[in-house]
Amino acid sequence: CGIVGYVGGQPAAPLLLEGLGRLEHRGYDSAGVAVLSGTGLKVAKRAGRVRDLADGLPKRFAGKVGIGHTRWATHGPANDVNAHPHTDAKGLVAVVHNGIIDNAAALRQRLSDEGVDLASDTDTEVVAHLVGRSEAGTLEGKVREALAAIEGTYGLAILHADFPDRMVVARNGSPLIVGVGDHEVFVASDLAAIVRHTTTVAHLEDGEIATLTASGFTTARETTTLDIDPAAYETGDHASFMRKEMLEQPEAAQRVLRGRLDERFGTAHLGGLNLDARETRAIKRVKILGCGSAYYVGQMGAALIEELARIPADAEAASEFRYRNPIIEPDTLYVAVSQSGETIDTLLAVQEVRRKGGRVVGLVNVVGSAIARECDGGIYLHAGPEVAVASTKALTTMFLGFALLALQLGRVRDLSIADGRRLIAGLERLPAQIQEILDREDEIAELAGRLADAESLFFVGRVRGFPVAREGAQKFKEISYRHAEAYQTSELKHGPLALISPDVPTVAIVPADELADRNVGALHEIAARRGPLVVVTHDGVDLGEVAAARIVVPRNERELDPVLMTIPLQLLAYHAALRLGHDIDKPRNLAKSVTVE
Ligand code: G6P
Repeated sequence: CGIVGYVGGQPAAPLLLEGLGRLEHRGYDSAGVAVLSGTGLKVAKRAGRVRDLADGLPKRFAGKVGIGHTRWATHGPANDVNAHPHTDAKGLVAVVHNGIIDNAAALRQRLSDEGVDLASDTDTEVVAHLVGRSEAGTLEGKVREALAAIEGTYGLAILHADFPDRMVVARNGSPLIVGVGDHEVFVASDLAAIVRHTTTVAHLEDGEIATLTASGFTTARETTTLDIDPAAYETGDHASFMRKEMLEQPEAAQRVLRGRLDERFGTAHLGGLNLDARETRAIKRVKILGCGSAYYVGQMGAALIEELARIPADAEAASEFRYRNPIIEPDTLYVAVSQSGETIDTLLAVQEVRRKGGRVVGLVNVVGSAIARECDGGIYLHAGPEVAVASTKALTTMFLGFALLALQLGRVRDLSIADGRRLIAGLERLPAQIQEILDREDEIAELAGRLADAESLFFVGRVRGFPVAREGAQKFKEISYRHAEAYQTSELKHGPLALISPDVPTVAIVPADELADRNVGALHEIAARRGPLVVVTHDGVDLGEVAAARIVVPRNERELDPVLMTIPLQLLAYHAALRLGHDIDKPRNLAKSVTVE
């Protein structure tokens, strides 16, 4: 979900709607705004997109103080009533909320026992009633009293008609950024909503409550001015953010590597990790935690660390980790991977590790985000803002971040200087090779056209290629809505081969590595069942008699193959979704950052 708020000298509604448009990737089931003016509180909200809200906004919607919200439904379906802002019984209070109130059911019961009619099915509505019923003399006092009754996570922005010059905001586990302009103050859950108006910002901390008025805000927090180009948050000439972000990958790859490679010693320098050689040598195991695409790239990262540093490594879905009472070992290095740095499942996993005395480093894109701040050290990915729900450039920089980490760990342990230099040379070749693949978009688009009509597909790979297949299937299902299942090529014959038919294509990852012959053997088994095949491969791999469409990617060092093989899979998903006429940047039911458990 996304929150935006404004207090200042300009009409609030247009600013709120514009901000919501920029937050829509965070949730797009429903949207709403509320403004305060001399005549009281006005609220407009509805299921659907921000543009539907804007089209239906009443002519008279003036007010220089306001809040807005885009929703990704958790409690209750996406309908007009459940959209935010929520109001109290007297229509004086309006609330927008990100997060989940855990004791909402008990509070709803208590309120209805006290005779309050609850209009919606949401957890958020209780906040509006609690604030409305508080006897405290100030708005901040009322909010404090309400929050004392609440358990859960929240980013909140609250208006009250009796206090028409202000807004109160509160944070616990859900990001809120205050932006200060010239006699105006903004609040947002994501910088994207306000960056065109101000880059002087303060991040609220958990547990903090602040009052915003046109002249400033009441916390001890200092503001910092960020060096950001607002154009990074625009699609520019591109048809979608996903396309723009895919095309930015060569540059993003250069940025994550810049200044971090040391040719002389064949290693990487990652000062932000806060790990010295002695500590590095003591690491017995590496455990990588992330969700969605970050989890799959974590599996690629684990393979890199095992191969280069010879430290046992694996990746686990952060959303599962803390619920199995994990054993936290002092000599394990935990690595949290996240584009947004706000994914609650990953954040909670980090907190679980730290609470038990483990050491966590982060591979995070968004500077200053919750996960970045929670970790003991880390690597910023410098991918630039990623807006499309389907992750592309962030994922590529995550892979490279792992390569750097593996190199640094490896060179303190058993990786030779020659191998270190070999990998550095490989890393330096990557940006141009990514570009080479992007340049072959038309050819890949044609193949995507053939896959788009299949109701169901397989993505298969082995060892290094398996996480690539998982990520390829993830991307494909996210935006094409086709059933795409990833499998180890070697396991096909133990079950799923039963599903192969002329209607079920397979995308196979077949690098020119030690497993190529075995992989080709499996392709024969698929072809014998007349399963259509698209093979992502290298020059020199002999597919023999197998009739398959091929996407040949440039060769690099075998350890780095996965990242290059991922690029055509992005293009396949993108062009399949385009052909099917889907909303590329905002696939149904999903959100860019999931800040609820
Ligand atoms: C959401 C997105 C996925 C993303 C995952 C992790 O589920 O839809 O595309 O991979 O979150 O996001 P993060 O910001 O932690 O990398």
